[in-house]
Amino acid sequence: MTVPLLAGVPLLEDLEVAGRTVLVRADLNVPLRDGEVADDLRISASLPTLRALLERGAALVVCSHLGRPSGPGDPGTSLRPVADRLAVLLGRPVVLAADVAGDDARARAAALAPGEVLLLENLRWEPGETAGAAELAARLASLADRYVDDAFGAAHRAHASIAGVPALLPGAAGLLLARELEVLGGLRDAPARPYVAVLGGAKVSDKLAVLERLLERVDVLAVGGAMATTFQLAEGRPIGLSRVEADRAESVGRLVAAARARGIEILLPVDLVVAATFERDAEPLVVDVADMPADRMSLDIGPRTAARIAEAIASAGAVFWNGPMGVSEWPSFASGTRTVAEAMAASPAFTVVGGGDSAAAVRAMGLDDRMDHISTGGGASLELLEGRALPGVEALRTTPRPS
Ligand code: 3PG
Repeated sequence: MTVPLLAGVPLLEDLEVAGRTVLVRADLNVPLRDGEVADDLRISASLPTLRALLERGAALVVCSHLGRPSGPGDPGTSLRPVADRLAVLLGRPVVLAADVAGDDARARAAALAPGEVLLLENLRWEPGETAGAAELAARLASLADRYVDDAFGAAHRAHASIAGVPALLPGAAGLLLARELEVLGGLRDAPARPYVAVLGGAKVSDKLAVLERLLERVDVLAVGGAMATTFQLAEGRPIGLSRVEADRAESVGRLVAAARARGIEILLPVDLVVAATFERDAEPLVVDVADMPADRMSLDIGPRTAARIAEAIASAGAVFWNGPMGVSEWPSFASGTRTVAEAMAASPAFTVVGGGDSAAAVRAMGLDDRMDHISTGGGASLELLEGRALPGVEALRTTPRPS
């Protein structure tokens, strides 16, 4: 019996914040290009909570990680570009502290007035963040008197700002975290049927656990992207020069056979777009899976495969999609991903896109408004659907209640 995800989790509306300083843990880990924010989905998704708190008279100390820096001040990992974009989107100044929870952050947090916003530097500049250090949690907690967790994308990490701080300050789930838990919890526990999952992306090893769990729940599983090659190998198909995780083929084969025996439909590629080299301008060629040439690699699903997946999506009750169907940032190998995105946009099903790359592809195609939900969590959404407890959510269940 699974516990409803929001059971016992205090919500934003339950937290009294007027005149208080609130530490908001957001996931502003966005992709950067040439020092600028390349996709601001996670920043815009954090706005409703920030605005609600500001309207209710709070001062905000916002914090996030960015990338996986090797240490303090690692070039290219400052939250400066994020602070600038957040200020534009929020329509008010956002001051960036020079450190995470050091002298500068402390002095600036203490001087905040209601309606003001301070952003701390990259949490992972402090080694104690990923180590879940109590000492860092205490320093972060000392900057504020309330805590709001809105970082769904990092809810699967037992880090100091996520699992440590809510033990020290009265906390609540932000609006984004609550919405993600509600939507993905619904898919985990009571999806509309037929429930179609579309999985792509590079690695099957990252997704074996979620695959096993999804196969207990879905009516149709469609597989594309590089991970489909491992399925093809498991089925004894030729794979040419395609990227493969041969050591996973046996487990994948077992999972597929067991799922088929239970009547689950597994849609694997019947055709592929292949090329001789892994290059943007490589010549694309469509082949049937059975005719995969030994000197080619698969870079996208083929049009017949894409059409079969689109058909399943059109008649679904719910669709969950994680991972592109091919190298979607290269136009010659983007059409499988595009077909899936367009089919989801047109489907009457409840549609959820999870994961950075598929979410970015949907946004780049301008189809984001036509999905029911675009999750800000990649790994977090998969771990949730796998049925694993998320440290960020568990910590909120036992957060102290304000006296
Ligand atoms: C993500 O991008 O999935 C989250 O921000 C978590 O980042 P991480 O995988 O580096 O912990």
